[in-house]
Amino acid sequence: RVVTIDGIAALIQDVPDFPKPGVTFKDITPVLARPDAFQAVVDAMVASAPEGIDVVCGMEARGFIFGAPVALALGASFVPVRKSGKLPRDTVESTYDLEYGTQTLAVHTDAIRAGDRVLIVDDVLATGGTVAATADLVHRLGGSLVAVTVLMELAFLAPRERLEWRDVDLITSLITYD
Ligand code: PRP
Ligand code: MG
Repeated sequence: RVVTIDGIAALIQDVPDFPKPGVTFKDITPVLARPDAFQAVVDAMVASAPEGIDVVCGMEARGFIFGAPVALALGASFVPVRKSGKLPRDTVESTYDLEYGTQTLAVHTDAIRAGDRVLIVDDVLATGGTVAATADLVHRLGGSLVAVTVLMELAFLAPRERLEWRDVDLITSLITYD
């Protein structure tokens, strides 16, 4: 029995006032706890991918959960996009604003080669800052960012506006919250 997108959505739990008052956290751990649901998410992400993906980028930490199995299924390289200071060799870094403070993401300079066709995978597209910073890294290494796939999109935060000038052809969200 294959779990539908509605079935996956029903497993995601709203946690009010986490991590701070007024914010509702979308907890995906019940999805991960069900192998059939987790598999359905990975399958849907794989199905969303254009042909000929060379590299899947997943962003620390929750982007690793989905990005790694998607890369294996596509027969593509997996590139962990890490928070600053974690990668041991030469990196490129991109800093973006959070609600309070900044965040810096990094990849090894040899992780993506000029002309590589890249898919970015993450759990949730909220303000779009994380994906935008990752898109910068891909572009600076000469990669071609062909698609972004996320489990959830918080459309009310208008992330696609932030990504407009990043030149991404295809943004797929399995579940959209308006
Ligand atoms: C969370 C989430 C996305 C990002 C989305 O990551 O996993 O990566 O926020 O928000 P944005 O679109 O506004 O950038 P976060 O770094 O908070 O936590 P994580 O380490 O658990 O992935
Ligand atoms: Mg994250």
